[in-house]
Amino acid sequence: MKQLLFGVFENAQSNDSGTATWRHEDNQRIDFDSLDYWIKIAKICEAGGVDWLFLADAWGWSEIDGVRPDICDEEALDLPRLDPAIVVASLLQCTNRLGLVLTGSTLVEAPYSFARRMATLDHLSKGRIGWNVVTTGTAETATAAFGKVMVKHDQRYEMAEDFIELTYKLFEGAWEPDAVERDRSGRYSDPQKVHRILHYGPYFKCEGYGNSHYSPQGTPVIFQAGSSPRGIQFAGKHGECIFVAGDTSFVSKQTNKIRKEAALNGRDPQSDIKVICAFSCVVGDTEFEAQEKHNTILKTQRCNVAAASYAMFTGLDLSKYDRKTKMSDLETEMSKTQVLRFGEVSIGEVLDNWHENGVRPKPIVGTADQISDVMSQMAREADLDGFMFTPMSQPSSTIDFIDKILPIMRSRHVNKKNVCDQFLRQRLLGTKTPYLSASHPGVKYRVQRHKKPLNS
Ligand SMILES: Cc1cc2nc3c(=O)[nH]c(=O)nc-3n(C[C@H](O)[C@H](O)[C@H](O)COP(=O)(O)O)c2cc1C
Repeated sequence: MKQLLFGVFENAQSNDSGTATWRHEDNQRIDFDSLDYWIKIAKICEAGGVDWLFLADAWGWSEIDGVRPDICDEEALDLPRLDPAIVVASLLQCTNRLGLVLTGSTLVEAPYSFARRMATLDHLSKGRIGWNVVTTGTAETATAAFGKVMVKHDQRYEMAEDFIELTYKLFEGAWEPDAVERDRSGRYSDPQKVHRILHYGPYFKCEGYGNSHYSPQGTPVIFQAGSSPRGIQFAGKHGECIFVAGDTSFVSKQTNKIRKEAALNGRDPQSDIKVICAFSCVVGDTEFEAQEKHNTILKTQRCNVAAASYAMFTGLDLSKYDRKTKMSDLETEMSKTQVLRFGEVSIGEVLDNWHENGVRPKPIVGTADQISDVMSQMAREADLDGFMFTPMSQPSSTIDFIDKILPIMRSRHVNKKNVCDQFLRQRLLGTKTPYLSASHPGVKYRVQRHKKPLNS
């Protein structure tokens, strides 16, 4: 049985994944803007031996015909939010081993300042940082907010290629790993090992020295979740941990495509990438109890949330179409996955599904043994390397996952409770060093003058 990795999904807002579960009396996400909330979640994940805590992010919001529906404010569907980088920074003091993965947009961020922010977090966390690289599915409203023009779907990935190339140069090429000497009798840094970066890409330019020096991992662990054809190309080239979501057959096909794409890029399709499935579940001591719990969560949902929520990810107002219309008749330049994954399903079914689950996968509802059986089977059939749990109500859902499901999965899938203070990349990918593996495209930007190659 493969060793499986486990992460917990979070979002710095009171709702996540496009559903409005904040009304649930147990859901403490209603106070997402309090530091105590985040410290509690991080400590629960660290004590539970979870491999990483993930902070999603989206700059945009829902708009239908240029108008943001009132239900967005009434249900806090898309706004307000907090900055995930600052939330992560606030968790460094109360965690030691927990990986911290934050989402960063290649559409609206500036590579130079973004690279410094990530290097800073990697230094201060002693190498526990991951970067979820997104092209921002909510592109329409995000670009408007930044005073930029809308960029079409596949072109956003061209931009992401240019963005990530420049950040590799800043992470790997601006300062050599041993440039900083901190020698009070000598010098602080060796000027021979600090290099000016010259980048003249189609979207981004840079003529400058890296603002931060080489961090413990050099480049943060690269997470990615685009599952459109262009998204998978990007994942196979750059991703180290790649998220998939959906039912076993959809996920199995995605995993296959992703591993093939990695091999096409000269990477080992098993050891150089980890495919992580987003999953949701409601656990009870009996199936009946679990179903009851799920029903109380579903009851918190107002009926007309789904259309406004779906529009946030796609710009499409499904309530305008005949419910029998096939999803395959629709097109979007925003998050293509949120159309492609439904294939020939009718709009009516998607609206009903979205009402219950939003962008989250359909939850597995049952006892801990039943849920673990489904997960083990999914991992086997879809050749997965791990799961990212998307809680419906916090912290109760995460506590259930850690107390009831993880022990069973660990006993089956040798997921050792992570006790050592290894760097995040070593823990997730089993690399010998904290640095990008030799087959990763980012390595070619590393400047290493004197010593033998880093990852030998
Ligand atoms: C588990 C998971 C987490 C994701 N987190 C984010 C996120 O935080 N921000 C975001 O803009 N998109 C997020 N996405 C969406 C993807 O990054 C991507 O935009 C989406 O899959 C559309 O990709 P595509 O445009 O290639 O179809 C996530 C997707 C998955 C499966």
